[in-house]
Amino acid sequence: MASIKLKTNVNKLKGEVVIPGDKSISHRSVMFGAIAHGETTVTNFLPGEDCLSTISCFRKLGVKIVEENGQLRIDGQGFEGLSEPDETLDVGNSGTTIRLLMGILAGRPFFSTLVGDQSIGKRPMTRVTEPLKQMGAVIDARKNGTYTPIAIRGGRLTPIHYQLPVASAQVKSALLLAGLQAEGETTILEPAATRDHTERMIRQFGGEIHRKNGLITVKGEQRLTASAIHVPGDISSAAFFLVAGAIVPGSEIVLKNVGLNPTRTGILEVLEKMGANLTVIKNEADSFEPAGDLIIKSSNLKGTVVEGGLIPRLIDEIPIIALMATQAEGTTIIKDAEELKVKETNRIDTVVAELRKLGASIEATPDGMIITGRSKLKGGAVSSHGDHRIGMMLAIAALLSDGGVHLEQPESIAVSYPNFFSHLNRLIH
Ligand code: S3P
Repeated sequence: MASIKLKTNVNKLKGEVVIPGDKSISHRSVMFGAIAHGETTVTNFLPGEDCLSTISCFRKLGVKIVEENGQLRIDGQGFEGLSEPDETLDVGNSGTTIRLLMGILAGRPFFSTLVGDQSIGKRPMTRVTEPLKQMGAVIDARKNGTYTPIAIRGGRLTPIHYQLPVASAQVKSALLLAGLQAEGETTILEPAATRDHTERMIRQFGGEIHRKNGLITVKGEQRLTASAIHVPGDISSAAFFLVAGAIVPGSEIVLKNVGLNPTRTGILEVLEKMGANLTVIKNEADSFEPAGDLIIKSSNLKGTVVEGGLIPRLIDEIPIIALMATQAEGTTIIKDAEELKVKETNRIDTVVAELRKLGASIEATPDGMIITGRSKLKGGAVSSHGDHRIGMMLAIAALLSDGGVHLEQPESIAVSYPNFFSHLNRLIH
């Protein structure tokens, strides 16, 4: 698909969307199902390309995974049940797959090679390979251990006491997965709290993990047991409709079954600070991951500052927050977000370049961006640059544009939200 014409100049958005499963939790449900003992079931698994890459890698590692009536069944045989793959493990576009998988493979006594697409080939891997090498894994990769392809031979691991140089849930999770296989206690200190899905999974699968004053401690050689996982909706997918509802005049959207883990809800705080008309209805039922429904209505928005400890809690939502800021009165400053440069694309550059094409007033800074609203958006030819979240952000921007908007590389959206356009089109009135 070379390019598609997006819906522009819509009247209003109205209706309900059941948000598909959370990407981070879906990946982890397969991984933990594989390393636990017994049959794990997963409902509301996200069938996005990234999570399908995780399934395909674990099948190559000898894990039996079947899908039946929308439910996954994973036949876990513990870490020891994984076997040397005959083929290269291809992670596609998925940073979570490759980084967490390395943590698992670091402790396995066999050889594997990992590859991914062009975007994965540009993303830094030393942040994971260095500490894993310190624990005892043998790893090599292109450009002095930095980029895919990666070759890894795991084995006996010694625990590590590691201060993360960047706030990254992927690095933290890789070290926890390696730590679970080490002889002794691994400790990790995060510079800022990042998503804690891995920690919750460890507990959900019967393991033990502790957190005190930002220091995370996990004992090695724990036996994990199978579980039944229900994946809540992805707040990072809901974010596109939250912003759409907030900026398209006359809109009212209900978002059902959205994950509300506090390490992921930074977007809700930004919406509130900007003056959005948002209602949060938390589910009563107890679950290992909190969830609920969200109602968003359009309102007058004002600029804000997004920075510091809030950044890791909304890192994937920054492209859509930038769009929201173009429709808010005054200036919005996003800072402390250098990590955006090493996502699926350099998201500082791609957000600024693409929103400028539609007439937004936005400039890049070394660690974020500055946006001045309100801008009347116009038509143009834009590109996702192969980045799913840039593609969805541009589809929402188009709703307000007068003039045609053509999106190049729309197919990347299937990485995290295969039904995105059908859900969006149902809301358009
Ligand atoms: C993720 C962690 C974040 C996030 C990514 C998913 C995860 O990446 O951007 O989309 O599932 O752990 P970093 O750990 O690189 O910040």
